[in-house]
Amino acid sequence: MTNTTPGMSTDAIELLMGDHREVEQLFEMMNKARQSSDVDQQRYVAEHVVEDLSVHAVIEEEVLYPAMRDALPDGDQLVEEALQEHQEAKELLTRIDGKDPQSEDASAAFDELVATIHHHVLDEETQLLPRLRGALGQERLEQMGKKMELARKAAPTHPHPHAPNTPPGNVAAGAFAAVVDKIRDALRS
Ligand SMILES: [Fe+2]
Ligand SMILES: [Fe+2]
Repeated sequence: MTNTTPGMSTDAIELLMGDHREVEQLFEMMNKARQSSDVDQQRYVAEHVVEDLSVHAVIEEEVLYPAMRDALPDGDQLVEEALQEHQEAKELLTRIDGKDPQSEDASAAFDELVATIHHHVLDEETQLLPRLRGALGQERLEQMGKKMELARKAAPTHPHPHAPNTPPGNVAAGAFAAVVDKIRDALRS
């Protein structure tokens, strides 16, 4: 996942943007795997997209979005819109998770996911994150970065579109789902 030097604190915004770049690289890898009809590679990329985006959505929902509600006057509205886009993404991930990447439905869901995430990341990076940086000091952003590193370890690795996505329900449900997902991952590999 994100490259962070041990002992050095990463601020929350840099951490999230690092995740965004990794997902974009995976999307690019899918393009190449499709061009070369490499099905194993398509499956590998799809699995990683599912895991990375499931974890990313949850750490934003647990740490970033609550901070935005507090720090920005229109935070509630911005977060509601962002959560709606996360919901769309999770539903698309469910159609990809564990499916044949070449099946019509999974491949259509993947294309839709790329467009949804592109739009969502653009919104976050041009509006939400710069405004949050303006509202919070560096110290606060680094504390949030630490919280995110912890949340990442306890985050579910598969999409859970029906689980609560706001505190406090999401933290408890997320921890439980993470255990279930990790058992599932272990059994699969
Ligand atoms: Fe997001
Ligand atoms: Fe994000």
